[in-house]
Formats: sequence, C-alpha cells, structure tokens
Amino acid sequence: MSDSQDRNPRFTPAAGYHFLTPFYDAGVAITTRERRWRGRLVELMAPAPDDIILDVGSGTGNLALAIARRGGGARYLGIDPDDAATRIAREKTARLSPQPDFRVGFFTAASIVGWPMPTKVTICLVLHQVGLAEKARLLREAWLCLAPGGQLYIADYGEQRSRLMRILFRLTIQQLDGRWLSTGAHRRSGI
Ligand SMILES: C[S@@+](CC[C@H](N)C(=O)[O-])C[C@H]1O[C@@H](n2cnc3c(N)ncnc32)[C@H](O)[C@@H]1O
Repeated sequence: MSDSQDRNPRFTPAAGYHFLTPFYDAGVAITTRERRWRGRLVELMAPAPDDIILDVGSGTGNLALAIARRGGGARYLGIDPDDAATRIAREKTARLSPQPDFRVGFFTAASIVGWPMPTKVTICLVLHQVGLAEKARLLREAWLCLAPGGQLYIADYGEQRSRLMRILFRLTIQQLDGRWLSTGAHRRSGI
C-alpha cells in the first residue's frame, strides 16, 4: 500500500483493504463461483477480432485472462485506480497475445484518450463498491466513450431478495467493500 493510498483511500481496493489485494484472486474464485459467471460474461460479450474491449475497474486482470482464454483476437484495454492491482494484472497477462493494455486512473472518457474507441465496455464487480453518484458517473462516462452501436456489459452481485440474504451480504461482502465512496467520504454504498 502506498502512503498516499493509506492517508486518502479514495476508492475501495479489490478485496476491501490494500493489504488483501494479493489474495483477491483466491477470494473471488472461492466465494463467487468465478469460473461460471466470468465464463458466461465472456460468452455474452462474444469478443471478435475487430472488437476493442474496455474493462472499467480492471483490478488484477482476471477478465483480461478470461477473454484471452476464449480467443477471438479482440483488443483488451483495462483501467483501474489501484496501481498495486494493475501491477498484478500486468504481470499475469505479460505473455498474452494480443497484449492487454492497462492504465492506472479513475475512468472518464478523457482518461482513455489515445486509446481507440471501445466497441464494448464492461464494468465487472465495481458498481457494488461505489456510491450512487459514482455508479451514475461511471455509466455516463461509459456511454460517452462507446463507439456508435457499442455495447455495455455489467456483472455484479444480484439483489438480496430475502432478509437472510441481506444480512449475510452485509456481514461478508459489505464488510470489505462499500466502505468508501470514491470521493473519500466514509459512507456505505447505496446498495
Ligand atoms: C472487486 S474489484 C473487481 C476487479 C475486476 N473488475 C474483476 O472482475 O475481478 C473492484 C475494482 O474496482 C476498482 N474501483 C474502485 N472504485 C472505482 C471507481 N470509482 N472507478 C473505477 N474502478 C474502481 C478497484 O480498484 C478494484 O480493482
């Protein structure tokens, strides 16, 4: 964890705390049946050779790997505010071809200048970590940067339909995520 992140946690890191980032991959694999839902997401996205896929909140690069495993030759671009997670993503995907491209930063249409216009944008396991205003902002920016006829794919936790599900979600995922809004305010996320 860098000092600046420690003093000013403006975003929730992948596993809730910066020191847990190296364990994010194992955690998400064990707790969310990741192979199943991520495989389904990539299937729905159906990457094609002329696709430019932008992954907002790309984390440790798991979606880049899943897209590469499926094949199809699409170009992958990932952006995430967390430099530690992005370092892991770059290491994990260093041998892939085509080579994924990662940037560190908060996503805005302006923050991806220099990259080609995405034909597909995905926001995967990010929206549950941010407040309502940030959810709306991310969706607006995705809309602004998509190529004409482009598509947006969102994957996240579903609604907790029963009281028990709600309690369990609060005791687990929301204990780690949703503690910080991206503005740095100490409030729970809106979901
Ligand atoms: C639970 S992880 C999901 C990572 C990856 N998308 C995946 O599917 O494994 C959430 C990621 O969202 C990033 N994040 C947090 N706040 C964000 C924001 N306001 N905008 C973009 N990304 C954000 C975090 O740094 C973290 O890497």
